[in-house]
Amino acid sequence: MSKADKKLVIFSDIDVEKALKNALQKTRPDIIGEVRDSGLKGRGGAGFPTAVKWNLAAAAQGERKFVICNADEGEPGTFKDRVLLTDYAEQLVAGMVLAAYAVGAKDGIIYLRAEYTYLKKDLEATIEKMRGKKMLGKKILGKEGFDFDVHIHMGSGAYICGEETALIESLEGHRGEPRNRPPFPVTVGYLGCPSSVNNVETFITALHIVEKGAKWFKTFGTEKSTGTKLFSISGDCEKPGVYELPMGITIKKLLETVGGEDAKAVQVGGASGTCVPRKDFERVIAYEDVATGGSIIVFGPHRDMLEVAINFMEFFCEESCGQCTPCRLGTETLLEGLDMLDEGRCSLKYLRELCALGETMQLSSKCGLGQSAPNAFLSIIENFKSEIFDTRCSCR
Ligand SMILES: Cc1cc2nc3c(=O)[nH]c(=O)nc-3n(C[C@H](O)[C@H](O)[C@H](O)COP(=O)(O)O)c2cc1C
Ligand code: SF4
Repeated sequence: MSKADKKLVIFSDIDVEKALKNALQKTRPDIIGEVRDSGLKGRGGAGFPTAVKWNLAAAAQGERKFVICNADEGEPGTFKDRVLLTDYAEQLVAGMVLAAYAVGAKDGIIYLRAEYTYLKKDLEATIEKMRGKKMLGKKILGKEGFDFDVHIHMGSGAYICGEETALIESLEGHRGEPRNRPPFPVTVGYLGCPSSVNNVETFITALHIVEKGAKWFKTFGTEKSTGTKLFSISGDCEKPGVYELPMGITIKKLLETVGGEDAKAVQVGGASGTCVPRKDFERVIAYEDVATGGSIIVFGPHRDMLEVAINFMEFFCEESCGQCTPCRLGTETLLEGLDMLDEGRCSLKYLRELCALGETMQLSSKCGLGQSAPNAFLSIIENFKSEIFDTRCSCR
């Protein structure tokens, strides 16, 4: 697998200690202002503006505040945070220190995907090293009144624990189930305290922005989707791996970069994302068009798209927490429908009903899992109906 050969933002060089020292010379509003001016949106998938989140957490009332790193990385096809946790851990922790300074938090937690247990020891060694260099602990880098430390909490091995309120439930020792929102974690989060939950890549990107400037960051990307993004690229291409590319890149250009020019479709955003067919490869990867937390799965000409849809839906049936009906029953019903298609016994009328069910799930599920579970189903049926339906069930 290849890692990014271009060092644009996230993979660009940075002197972490110097960056933190410089940041601590600035005021808290200045830091949040720089992040706001950069237009940085959260890299965990939802694309919520980072400065707005930090501002809300900074303004929230609370004796204790928390900065939480979401390192659960459970979206199928995503593995870019693993690279950051492995090779850029110091930058991650420094990014958390920066966020803590901005929001006024004393405690930081890295919620680490259970499958990444093998990384825990090295991460702990990085944290200890940073304590030694006074980048963690009391009076960080000599800054009077600024104390902050980080510990690691192992995840529970469930995709839903990546959803920030389920993550907080899991941190508190409960079953990982999403909470009702509002209140949002920025006001009522871990242990009822204001908490800013951010993705691994978000923390590292913010560190680069505050050190190198919002203006520099905005030289990459589009007006609404500034900067670069890490993409985990897998599937039917010659050079799978983690790439740093500017936001706003066309799918066509991305495929040229990774040697996947003959793809018939690309799944952008993992199982919960959208399946983009070849005719739409001029579309751009950006919040204003096809958004992604980073997962890109390439499907070559030989792929059976029904098999792809079944695979994704099996995942959602397995991972639905079962708390709300549209998701718990909807995922099962869509999977049964896909099996009926596979066996050639699905009528056009029933296929339409399944699509309507998918739309209902998008509107009525409690959290992002159920809201996005039908996305792949709907986009695959829309774009590959002739391949899937007409060849198997068109007589019905
Ligand atoms: C089912 C589900 C799983 C999620 N998994 C992750 C994850 O593994 N990592 C992540 O950063 N965000 C994940 N998210 C998004 C988080 O809820 C949250 O929006 C994110 O951590 C916020 O960080 P950001 O603002 O830096 O993007 C998930 C959301 C849902 C609905
Ligand atoms: S949408 Fe699914 S995962 Fe989310 S709360 Fe409902 S059942 Fe649980």
